[in-house]
Amino acid sequence: MAQEFKIAVLPGDGIGPEIIEQGIKVLDAVSKRFNHKFIFTKGLIGGIAYDKTGVPLPDETLELAKNSDAVFLGAVGDWKYDTLEPNLRPEKALLGIRKALNLFANLRPVTVYEELVSTSTLKEEYISGVDIMIIRELTGGLYFGEPKGIDTVNGQKRGYNTMVYTESEVERIAKVAFEVAMKRGKKLCSVDKANVLDVSRLWREVIEKVAKDYPEVELSHMYVDNAAMQLIRNPKQFDVMVTENMFGDILSDEASMLAGSLGMLASASLSDKGPSLYEPIHGSAPDLANQDKANPIATIMSAAMMLKYSFNLDTEADVIEKAVKSILAEGYRTGDIISESKILVGTAKMGDLIANKVLQV
Ligand code: IPM
Ligand code: MG
Repeated sequence: MAQEFKIAVLPGDGIGPEIIEQGIKVLDAVSKRFNHKFIFTKGLIGGIAYDKTGVPLPDETLELAKNSDAVFLGAVGDWKYDTLEPNLRPEKALLGIRKALNLFANLRPVTVYEELVSTSTLKEEYISGVDIMIIRELTGGLYFGEPKGIDTVNGQKRGYNTMVYTESEVERIAKVAFEVAMKRGKKLCSVDKANVLDVSRLWREVIEKVAKDYPEVELSHMYVDNAAMQLIRNPKQFDVMVTENMFGDILSDEASMLAGSLGMLASASLSDKGPSLYEPIHGSAPDLANQDKANPIATIMSAAMMLKYSFNLDTEADVIEKAVKSILAEGYRTGDIISESKILVGTAKMGDLIANKVLQV
């Protein structure tokens, strides 16, 4: 049955607009094939919003997001804003919208496509078949904790941030993680630094408590430094990982190298009510902007996650994934994942190829 969905589109800065355009192409192909109606409304976020309105996250953008069924975001940031005061920086908009929409659960799937195994800098036998879901807590922890700031103590400047979690914050992300684990391989690894940090000891305690409701899930705990090492040493040991905001930021960038490129990793940021947000895990890469070089696959796969998690369109999401795989199997590559004898294509061409495939697979 045909359905109608309102999507807030926030392209942002750098490569954001180019990759979002490819995501929309692919969603248009989905609507054509399955007869859905996606209503896209564009909004400003990041540096471009600052340039046009004086703030990186205008009220109208938040209103638009709140009144949509889902938010589709490109990326924010550019070196030219590096000297702005912290509250006006593009990144502040990203943190602001995550907080305002209460997007506490960030799902970052790390899927290693067989076609790209040889692209990774890691050995094939270790990464072939890797399929991990990293669940990053997104609205608390070190990114948002108070107190924070830069002050002067004894005549010298001092900078500080606080890693803080309440029981209920850990509990709700734990529940998401266990639920996701139940739908996958029923293995959950909670990553913390409980040998040093008090906040991690509480984190672990709450995870253990929630675990009682999920006896079928095999739970393990790992210190974050060890987890960083294990991700490279033997990534196939992991099914679902759940962790604090900043640990998750770092580990997910690391894990993207298993998949061959930062340009391959999609994400979904979910709340318990209201619209969710979908964005690639990579940044705005201003050095690549407007050159038709960026890999749009992370963004296209983020659109697939939107179909699955926000609209319950599982078949349609699978079609996008199949289209991506099939285009990779045909040998098409953007520069970040190119290897010998493959066909180099630009951002727009990659978008066209995948959108056309959506109509066929
Ligand atoms: C991410 C990004 C952001 C973050 C930046 C751009 C603020 O690195 O989504 O992982 O640190 O969360
Ligand atoms: Mg990051």
